[in-house]
This record gives sequence, structure tokens and C-alpha cells, in this order.
Amino acid sequence: MPIETTASVVAEVPDGAELLAVPYTSDLSPEVELHLPVSDLLAHYEAKGEAGEIIEVPVARAGGVGRVLLYGVGDGSPRALRKAAAALARRAKGRDTLTVVPPEGDVAAFAEAALLAAYSFKIGSEGKKPVRALTFAGADAAQVRRAQVVAQAVALARDLTNTPSSVKDPAWLAERAAERGVPVRVWDEEQLQADGFGGILAVGKGSASPPRLIQLSYTPAEPTDRHVVLVGKGITFDSGGLSLKPTENMKTQKTDMAGGAVVIAVLGALAELGAPVRVTGLIASAENMPSGTSQRPSDVIRHYGGRTVEVLNTDAEGRLVLADALAYADAVLDPDAVVDIATLTGAITVALGRNVGAVYASDDVLAKQLLDAAETSDDRLWRMPLIEDYRPALESSIADLANVESGSRFGAGSITAALFLREFAGRRPWAHLDIAGVGRSTVDEGTLTKGATGFGVRLLLEWLAGA
Ligand code: BES
Ligand code: MN
Ligand code: ZN
Repeated sequence: MPIETTASVVAEVPDGAELLAVPYTSDLSPEVELHLPVSDLLAHYEAKGEAGEIIEVPVARAGGVGRVLLYGVGDGSPRALRKAAAALARRAKGRDTLTVVPPEGDVAAFAEAALLAAYSFKIGSEGKKPVRALTFAGADAAQVRRAQVVAQAVALARDLTNTPSSVKDPAWLAERAAERGVPVRVWDEEQLQADGFGGILAVGKGSASPPRLIQLSYTPAEPTDRHVVLVGKGITFDSGGLSLKPTENMKTQKTDMAGGAVVIAVLGALAELGAPVRVTGLIASAENMPSGTSQRPSDVIRHYGGRTVEVLNTDAEGRLVLADALAYADAVLDPDAVVDIATLTGAITVALGRNVGAVYASDDVLAKQLLDAAETSDDRLWRMPLIEDYRPALESSIADLANVESGSRFGAGSITAALFLREFAGRRPWAHLDIAGVGRSTVDEGTLTKGATGFGVRLLLEWLAGA
């Protein structure tokens, strides 16, 4: 379900607004006339002006009691404003309309965070509903509109990712992709076979739901030569395959198509944001299941373009489907840059935790662009190294490569996975985002809702369509 909360702009605070949020600054003064003893109230509640702090004041309104929410804005930075906005949207849960006097500063970030905090995914009808409407008084309509487009794209990625795997198989994902309003091409299992996508086929072999490769194409209104390819991991459920996961690790793996969901959502939002670059999205989708038709540890597969891989662990399946898509992008699509996004390794959660995603890059300019977009968009990234010494971890005695290290001499599971992908990206500027740690949230807090985060949508939209 998309974000149901609406966002609109009015010129001035309407008379008698029932629920009204007003910022106060570090000198503890609000910026509109409220006919309230504001400084006494703030002193009484020992308000500090921090972002996320809200002083709720009941006020007389025609027909009953209204509320003014005096909210802190911290240092006024985009990060602080996001925190303030999320706290307000959460406080307004179950209410009809929240009228907001926006703070000084980045209103787009503020509105975007308020909308994201109002996201919910419920199968069933228990619990308080998100606030129905947000009205920003005196805000720039274009900025609020932009925030809405971005927030809805994040919500779409979250929805796809939160959907149970009993519903979302690769064909279902292809149908959702086809609804985005951009040209789509889908390879079914026969076409995958005909074109030699051996990695995607091998991973999908054990499932009753066959794999798909999905391609989405965005062309800007103004013709341009610049072409970016985004590749998303679209494993609709990762049981591990015959290298079966224990239940504790398996139960979160409906979110293993989070990268693919991000690519679908981004491709659907580029036109509305007027992105000036051509973008092709590839979603390599399969369900990784154990059965009598599954691939086995020790099988050798042949990827798109002919390279062979010895599959030593069927649970290292993401790199197998991505390798086909990366090789295809390099051989056929002729992009200026390729960025893949994938819930690739549990190891990256050990390294960077749940708040910061990993970026690996073969190119410093591309890395810098993504790190800058991460900073602006609040999808935070840290650059990880492609350590050449660890490359021998991927050697196989019978195939061109092995999909995992056979011993534990090198370790560094996220780095060796990135080194594997690099083999298929060709010589083009390439970056890999490992979002296994940040793809899902364990808390309902701030702009995050428990479950899928949509991490990467804001980052990639900022990179491709940012100001
Ligand atoms: N989908 C998992 C990675 C993952 C783990 C995502 C936890 C989200 C949360 C991936 O396919 C996987 O199983 N990776 C293995 C690689 C190993 C077999 C080399 C892992 O991380 O254990
Ligand atoms: Mn796996
Ligand atoms: Zn996986």
C-alpha cells in the first residue's frame, strides 16, 4: 500500500486549525503569532529545542479542544529536520489533518521524512491509521511535490519488499515492473535459456516458480548520450537452496529482492523528477529453493557471455544472478556506468551494521558521486575496499571461478562477494551497493517502519535526478 497520507500546500495557516505544528528555534521562540505564552510553556516543559522534541499544548477551538505542537528543529540541518518531521507525523497518528508551519531550511527533506514516517504496511486492519493529511503552510509547492514523488517511490520499494513470498514470485515482480509506465522487456525461462543466462536459471531451478530477467528503460525528454544501468538482486525468497539456511536466518529472506524493488521504484519515478540521463534497470529475479531439481553444491554453471562458475554454496546465489545481468549490461547495453544494488551478504551487517550501507567501486569519480548523493539523501553509505589480495579466494580448480571461498583463509565475505561481481562488470565504471544490513529495519522509528526500508531509492534518485 502506498503512503495514504496526502501532502498539500496552503498559503497561510488556516484559522482554527485543529492540529497545528509550529517550529521553535534555539532561542526558544516560535515563528508565528500563537496567542500562547510560548516562552513560559517552553520553560515549564524544560524544552531544549532538540530535533524530535514536541511540546503539545491544548488550545480552545470552536467546538472543542485543538492542539498546538511546538517542535524543536535542532541545528536546522537536513538530518535534524528529518528527525523533527518524522516525530510530528508519528505524533499525528490517528488524526485527520496536521497543519505544519515548516522550518527554515530544506523543506523537501522535511516533507519527505514526514511522509515516510507515515508509511505503513498492514495485512489486516488493527492499529491506528497514519494521519490522513499533511498541510504545509507557506511552503514551496514544488519542493513538497518532489518530496511526495520520492516518498511514494520509497513506499513502493517497501511494499514490494514487504509482500510475502507466497504472493511475490519472479513473474509477479515482472508484472509490477510492467506497471511503472516505462518500456519493459521480460525474459521468461525459455528466453533465458536461449540467450545463455545460466546463473539466473541455475538459481531458479529448484523452485516451482520460474525465474525472470526484467529490463526497464527510461529515456529523458531531452536526448542525451549519458546512459546508466542499474542492476537489482531480485531473489523473491532465499531459503539458501540445498545449502539450506536455518529458520532464524531464513525468516527474513522474503526481503532478498529489496535491491530489485529499489530498481523498479527508481525507474518509475525518474520521469516525474525529470532526470536528464538515460537509465536502464535490470532485475535478475529467481526463487532460491531446495528440491529435486535444485542446483547442487559442486555444480558448474555457465554465465551469460560464457564464463564458468563452480557453485560451492547454493546460498551464495545473489552473485550468480547478478553476474548474468552485469555481463549482459557490459556486452549489450554500452553504459557509461553500472551500479548494482543487492542484499548480498550477512557479513556486511557485521562490518557496517543496520544504518549505513556499503559501496564498492572500481572508479573514484563514481564512488564520490554516490557518496555525495548518500549524504544529501540520508541513505547513508560507507566506501569499502576491493582488496586485491583476497581475489585468490575465488579460484576454482575446475571452472573459471568459484562462487565462494572453499576454506576460510581470506574471510571478508562482503569484499569477496564484491570481487566476484567485479569479474562480470567489464572495464566500465562500476559500483556495488551491499544493502543486506540496511535493507530491513528491526524498529519502527523515525522515517523507518519495521520491515523493508526502501534503502537506495532516495540515494539513486538523488544521484540521477538531484538538483
Ligand atoms: N540473501 C543473503 C544475504 C543476507 C543475509 C541478506 C542476511 C539479508 C540478511 C545471501 O544470499 C546469502 O545467503 N549470503 C551468504 C553468503 C555466504 C554463503 C558466502 C551469507 O551472507 O551468509
Ligand atoms: Mn543466499
Ligand atoms: Zn540471497
